[in-house]
Amino acid sequence: MIKVEGLTKRYARTVAVDNVSFEVQKGQIVGFLGPNGAGKTTTMRVLTCFLPPSAGTAQVAGYDVLNAPMDVKKRIGYLPESPPLYPEMEVSEYLQFVGRLKGIPRGDLARRLDEVTGRCAIGDVRNKLIGKLSKGYRQRVGLAQAIIHNPDVLILDEPTAGLDPKQIIETRQLIKHLAGDHTIILSTHILPEVEQTCEQVIIISKGKVVATDSVENLTNRLRGAETVAVEVEASNGAPEAGAVLQRLEQVAGVARVLHRETKNGRHVFEVESLQGQAVRPALARGVVEAGWNLVELRAVSLSLEEIFLQLTGGDAAAGGVQ
Ligand SMILES: Nc1ncnc2c1ncn2[C@@H]1O[C@H](COP(=O)(O)OP(=O)(O)OP(=O)(O)O)[C@@H](O)[C@H]1O
Ligand SMILES: [Mg+2]
Repeated sequence: MIKVEGLTKRYARTVAVDNVSFEVQKGQIVGFLGPNGAGKTTTMRVLTCFLPPSAGTAQVAGYDVLNAPMDVKKRIGYLPESPPLYPEMEVSEYLQFVGRLKGIPRGDLARRLDEVTGRCAIGDVRNKLIGKLSKGYRQRVGLAQAIIHNPDVLILDEPTAGLDPKQIIETRQLIKHLAGDHTIILSTHILPEVEQTCEQVIIISKGKVVATDSVENLTNRLRGAETVAVEVEASNGAPEAGAVLQRLEQVAGVARVLHRETKNGRHVFEVESLQGQAVRPALARGVVEAGWNLVELRAVSLSLEEIFLQLTGGDAAAGGVQ
């Protein structure tokens, strides 16, 4: 449904997107994951025909963004980083306006309006001024304008940015419901967002694709070896950091132990497990059986930066992921 080959986009001297290739199959929901400045928005703007590519090609439903922009636009619904809303319009008035712009026949407009207001759960604010809506409702109106002409492809640029936790959950559910009928690309810099919403992930950093995989594979790859923070009481005749470190190193399944610091009466360690080994129960036993007080034991989740390091062997992050 979407095919991007060797896509490059330069802004003056900045190479925002550098020789990017990927494909998205019909009905899939794909996460475009990358830190600030990675080139997510730029790629989406090329796909939606807002910007011409500097090199390479991008096709949507078989139509080229350069040669057949009208055919591409007809098949795409786009939610930009800031939705193009008119604060002085009422919700239904705005959606009718967008619907007419997108060429929905007059006779179908009322039915489409009912459908999208139902799907995006904005029925209760239909007659409100957009300027008076909360951020979450505005985002839903943004989604409604993206799907009103029932496009094959939805391009959603950071659809949950700036929402509160409840709105984030609702928006993710809404997006998941839209998948199947639509092929969806959404961008985010949050890994859990991809895990919870998408089937496939394309990771980009500094304009380059560093990994393309199913979310399941990626999660397994990243979860294979876990990092655990272990904190042991260091006051009242407690052990030296070195003694605890030695003990932790002897626990089965442990690959490496680092003594981070001794602060506020605690020795803090970071323990890396071997691939595929869940070491937390054994670590807890090891500390307690030695007669020491275990203050805290928790899995350390990988930051996006660490994920890039793992996936690229250090290359992508060498210059510092922003
Ligand atoms: N209009 C522009 N003119 C010049 N440089 C630009 C322009 N838009 C983006 N850039 C640059 O292109 C690079 C990619 O930007 P882009 O907005 O595509 O990243 P992004 O992945 O969407 O980031 P974010 O997560 O912050 O939205 C950045 O280095 C940015 O500074
Ligand atoms: Mg962006």
